[in-house]
Amino acid sequence: MKIVYLDNAATSWPKPEVMIDAMTHFARNIGANPGRSAHRLSVEAARIIFEAREIIGQIIGISDPTRIVFTRNATEGINIILKGFLKPGDHVITSSMEHNSVIRPLRKLEKKGVEVSVVKCKEDGSIRHEDISKEIKRNTRLIILTHASNVTGTLFPVEDIGEIAKNHGIVFCVDAAQTLGNTPLNVEKSGVDVLFFTGHKSLLGPQGTGGVYIRKGLECEIDSFEEGGTGSRSEFEEHPDFMPDRFESGTPNTIGISGLLASCKFVLGYGIDNVREKEMRVTEKLLRGLSSISNVRIYGPKDPGKMISIVSFNIDGLSPSQVSLALDEEFNVMTRPGLHCSPLAHRTIGTFPHGTVRISPGIFTEDAEIEFTIEAIKRISHRL
Ligand SMILES: Cc1ncc(COP(=O)(O)O)c(C=O)c1O
Repeated sequence: MKIVYLDNAATSWPKPEVMIDAMTHFARNIGANPGRSAHRLSVEAARIIFEAREIIGQIIGISDPTRIVFTRNATEGINIILKGFLKPGDHVITSSMEHNSVIRPLRKLEKKGVEVSVVKCKEDGSIRHEDISKEIKRNTRLIILTHASNVTGTLFPVEDIGEIAKNHGIVFCVDAAQTLGNTPLNVEKSGVDVLFFTGHKSLLGPQGTGGVYIRKGLECEIDSFEEGGTGSRSEFEEHPDFMPDRFESGTPNTIGISGLLASCKFVLGYGIDNVREKEMRVTEKLLRGLSSISNVRIYGPKDPGKMISIVSFNIDGLSPSQVSLALDEEFNVMTRPGLHCSPLAHRTIGTFPHGTVRISPGIFTEDAEIEFTIEAIKRISHRL
């Protein structure tokens, strides 16, 4: 039986063929270390990385590709910025819908004297921007928020909060792990100073890729995380302070970035507006189907216009793991049960400690797969 993959919020699958071809091409025909040697293969590897920076820049609406730093994933980028920027005595504001990739570094920093305020979101996962304003204090240096929740799909009003941050001279960081590639975003127009992204979700790239956009000039206020070889300024024993080398040391994941470049081209060719439109349509179908089942409870805004393509639900009387396991074993439908690395979000929506079953369609999800999944959930729920 064909697999129905509805776990794109964890990582997207399948990947576009062009991504696989690009990685194979790199491994077979290029393979060199970028920026380290002067031979043509090394130059070609460096060109691939530069082009990948350019294409990410294009996706987020910036013209200077050196503002993009590549990391292993969004988590590494978040750690680099939070730990490099915040000092004891600083105050940071975040929300109760964040992923542990944001909450855990903040809890660690709290032990070192950084003050953390967590704004409580509404039960549908949405945030009131007035609640952010209320938390601002004299020592508030940073606001970090997700662009969309990985539990309920709820989109945050990034532009409104960007304006609040700008008016108070506070650095505004957005975790776009769930949105880059499926939701249009222009960092400059939205007042975003730092944007975290991951390559392996809606950008359709391989695992082990991700990065950070850092607004011009802000890098001087962020300590480097690691120092080492960059292939640049090799005559100096000190690490370069310019972008992006300031935050990149050691041989990069060039094969992964070559795949990311190809997958970003694929996404741009499809059109991010078109991805958004398609995912909204699929989400609507899913929401309609699930709400027709009497003992199914859906969480989140239940409005495709206010969310990305992530739907969390439970069946009364069954645990999320029982439902997800039945979907996998009996129907070949892949979903994710539990807390989704976001215990605070589940406390906010009232589903802690068991969590929910999360369905996250992607760019390749077909209507028939959604219909099949709804039928499968109906059958599981009727067993009770
Ligand atoms: C909202 C959010 N932030 C951060 C992350 C972490 O991403 P990565 O696994 O690339 O570090 C995820 C991954 O699930 C996420 O959903």
